[in-house]
Amino acid sequence: MGTVTNKHLLDIETLEKCDIEHLLAKGQEFSESLANDTWDKERLKGRVLINMFFENSTRTRTSFEMAAYRLGASIINWDASSSSISKGETFSDTLQCVAGYNPDGIIVRHSEFKAPYTVKALVNCPVINAGDSWRAHPSQALLDALTLIQEKGKLEGLTVAICGDVFHSRVASDNIHLLHKMGTKIHVIAPEMLMPQKLPYEGIKTFTSMEEGLPECDAVMMLRNQKERMEDSDIPDDTEYFNSFGLTQQRLQLAKPDCIVMHPAPMNRGVEIADDVADDPYKSVIFKQMANGLPMRMAILDTYIK
Ligand code: CP
Repeated sequence: MGTVTNKHLLDIETLEKCDIEHLLAKGQEFSESLANDTWDKERLKGRVLINMFFENSTRTRTSFEMAAYRLGASIINWDASSSSISKGETFSDTLQCVAGYNPDGIIVRHSEFKAPYTVKALVNCPVINAGDSWRAHPSQALLDALTLIQEKGKLEGLTVAICGDVFHSRVASDNIHLLHKMGTKIHVIAPEMLMPQKLPYEGIKTFTSMEEGLPECDAVMMLRNQKERMEDSDIPDDTEYFNSFGLTQQRLQLAKPDCIVMHPAPMNRGVEIADDVADDPYKSVIFKQMANGLPMRMAILDTYIK
């Protein structure tokens, strides 16, 4: 199998379609080899990686850590709150310090726009973006695509709704890039105050009501309201929001009968999604999607770590 164009995984925008295809094929291979216990458990033996999370995480941090161990690498969970950043050390000095130890890869999450690009300029190893600002979360978009392929057999020709706080969501941003590159039709559904002023591609349909945007959809991706990135005036009342934009069984019936429900999580149950939709045994693939974080991130480490 070939490889990818760039040394770092910084966002979906800078990936070629063939890079995405390569990563998804490898994610599927790891999904199968994890089920059969047949993957190369020493593939990254001797490598030392660093998880540098400047924002909280459950899924991304844990699954990158697990992926590293499953491939035989060691990984250090560097923690911003217990680091010397709390004594005033700058981001740049911190990264230059860590670079001096010559890690084999750095996985970084940060609230600042394009922070992984800054990291890339300061270190000599591959940098993997685990989410920056509202802009990019490439490993999430890839695991979402892997889940869609497993459920629907393809990406091209599907219609996928991305619903909720699209304006502040790095998951929405990178999913829009990925799905567009792979030929998926996209419906963006959001209240006016959470709708991006501009979308990156022509042809993406926008809706300010679930009732208008859900018909014809093969999958619906719900999003968490990113209150940590909102101005006070943007923050919608949870009950009002649920009444207008929450995914209920009644609204889900407007989509195709075999429409699947996705959410990157963490979910705010009763705000963007009803309990009985999140836990629907036939339509919700949310926990399968979370589990796919492992094979997809194994594929990412296998591809980028030398
Ligand atoms: N979806 C996602 O990025 O979850 P975490 O914030 O828990 O990593």
